[in-house]
Amino acid sequence: MNILQMEQVKFVANKEVLLDIPYFSLGKGDILGLIGPNGAGKTTFLKLLSFLQAPTEGDVLYKGEVKHADTLSIEERRQLAVAMQQSLLFDMNVSNNVAIGLKLRKENRKVMKEKVDYWLEKFHISHLAKKNGVSLSGGEAQRVNLARALILEPEVLFLDEPFAALDFPTKIQLMEDLKDILKDTNITTLFVSHDLIEINNITKKLAVIIEGQLKQMGNTKDVIHHPNEQAAPFLGKWKELYTI
Ligand SMILES: Nc1ncnc2c1ncn2[C@@H]1O[C@H](COP(=O)(O)OP(=O)(O)O)[C@@H](O)[C@H]1O
Ligand SMILES: [Mg+2]
Repeated sequence: MNILQMEQVKFVANKEVLLDIPYFSLGKGDILGLIGPNGAGKTTFLKLLSFLQAPTEGDVLYKGEVKHADTLSIEERRQLAVAMQQSLLFDMNVSNNVAIGLKLRKENRKVMKEKVDYWLEKFHISHLAKKNGVSLSGGEAQRVNLARALILEPEVLFLDEPFAALDFPTKIQLMEDLKDILKDTNITTLFVSHDLIEINNITKKLAVIIEGQLKQMGNTKDVIHHPNEQAAPFLGKWKELYTI
C-alpha cells in the first residue's frame, strides 16, 4: 500500500520550476533515501510530501486521497513526523524536550514518563535526562531531536539531513543507532541526504534527485552500483572517493 504519493507535482518559485515530479510513491515500511546535490530540491520535496508546503501544481495523496495542509486531520497530521538538520531544542531539560509532543497531546503522565524513559534509552541519552537541551553537543542534540520525533510513534518519519552538522565519529555512531531503531520499529521513512555513506548504511531504496527531477529510483544497492546515465555523474563522484 502507498502511504504517500505525488502526482504531476510541480513547485514553482520566481517563475522557476524547482521541482517537477510526474509520479512518486512511498510504500508502507519503505526506508527510502533521497539523494542529490545541494540545491537539487530535496528539502522542498520533503516539505511537499509532508504537507508542510503546498505544491504549485499537482496532488499529494495520503493513503490514496488527495490532501492539503488544511484538509489533513489532526490525527493524520500526527502520523507524519519531521526532523530537520538543525535540532531546535527548547530551554528545558532533555526529558521535557523529548516529551513535548506528548504533552501537547495531553498524554497521561505515567505513560508519558514510560515512553520518555524508553526513547532516551533507545538513543543512549538516559544520562542526559536532566540536562538542559540548549547545553548539549551537536550529536547529543540530534539524538534528542530524533527521540522527540519517534516518541510520537508516527506512521511516517521524515529526516532532512539529520547528520549533516555532525563530525564523522559522532555521525557514524548515531547512524548505527538510528539504523537499528528503524529496523526495530519498521517505520516508513524518507531519509534525505547528500551523503552516499549515510544512504548506503540506512536505506533500502533510493531515489536520485537532480535539478528538481527524480532521475532514478530503485533498490539502494542497485542504484549505487548501476546508476543510469542521468544519476551517474553525481553518484560516480562519490564512488570515486569512497569504495562502497
Ligand atoms: N520558497 C522558495 N522560493 C524560492 N526559491 C526556493 C524556495 N525554496 C527553495 N528554493 C530554491 O530551490 C532550490 C532547491 O532548494 P532545496 O529544496 O532547499 O534543495 P536541497 O535541499 O536539495 O539543497 C534551491 O535553489 C533553493 O534556493
Ligand atoms: Mg536541503
